[in-house]
Amino acid sequence: MAASGRVVVFGSLNVDSTSYVESFPAPGETIRSHGYRVALGGKGSNQAVAAQVVGASVDLVARIGTDAAGEFALATLQRFGLPTGAIGLEPDASTGVAQIAVADSGENTIIIAGGANLTLTPAVVDAERERIIAASLVLTQGELPPPTIERVAELAAGADVRFVLNLAPPAALSAAVVGSADPLVVNEHEARAVGIGTDATGMALEEWRELAASAVGRVARSVVVTLGPAGAVAASADGSWAVPAPRVAAVDTTGAGDAFTGALAAFIAEGRPLESALRFAVAAGALAVQTRGTVDSYAPRDAVLRAAGFDTGSATA
Ligand code: RIB
Repeated sequence: MAASGRVVVFGSLNVDSTSYVESFPAPGETIRSHGYRVALGGKGSNQAVAAQVVGASVDLVARIGTDAAGEFALATLQRFGLPTGAIGLEPDASTGVAQIAVADSGENTIIIAGGANLTLTPAVVDAERERIIAASLVLTQGELPPPTIERVAELAAGADVRFVLNLAPPAALSAAVVGSADPLVVNEHEARAVGIGTDATGMALEEWRELAASAVGRVARSVVVTLGPAGAVAASADGSWAVPAPRVAAVDTTGAGDAFTGALAAFIAEGRPLESALRFAVAAGALAVQTRGTVDSYAPRDAVLRAAGFDTGSATA
């Protein structure tokens, strides 16, 4: 099965400082970690790497500072074979950072400091117009400044290029911008923030599938909701689908949503239907949670195809 899609990611880029702890500290409490690592992160760069390792041709448009963290980030992206020509250096800003705690349950807490990510302005998007025109799809996330996300959506619409929006974390965007997403990718908390779902907890996958279907055309052109260990749902004008996740031992969920979104974008960029892309993305997310870290936990294309039940030798999915 050949991969061919061209994905342009307007993305946040952070360096993650992660402490592994038995359980999260209470306010005012000091605790010891039992592990620590520094690694590339940021939802944008994670998703760019995730799309690249499953076969997409990826351009990441991002901003870093002229500091050691920025050098580390560039070296990591180059290790994954990503071109770094669209990653600008900002001498007056620090590279974005994320302070992360991962508990033994596999859950995490994340605090981000945007730094150079905040210099990724609408003017930067304008300067990348040719890259957008040549793309199969453009992908961005809620970590970038809202005016930047809105400009990406506008230029994608003007060039008739598919716009995929991962609204993580929720950002103050116009209904028209969210409405142009195809798909809008959200987890259940983010879904509620845009009017999909209720406050009820523990809803079944089938209920989420129906909620996603009811949001098509109302909230976005198509909708994907990730539901952690339960799986994910998707809906478009062509139908709606629910894919349960395989039961796995989750050791670190950090960046699993990015593995999902990058794989989803890569498969859509190849021209695959949303239903196939959903299956592929659920498999990518389930593989990512079984290893510590973000980009280093992302499985390559054949492993994801096999886990999703696709024939790795076939030309169709
Ligand atoms: O989704 C995980 C990512 O969120 C981390 O890599 C961190 O940098 C934050 O952006």
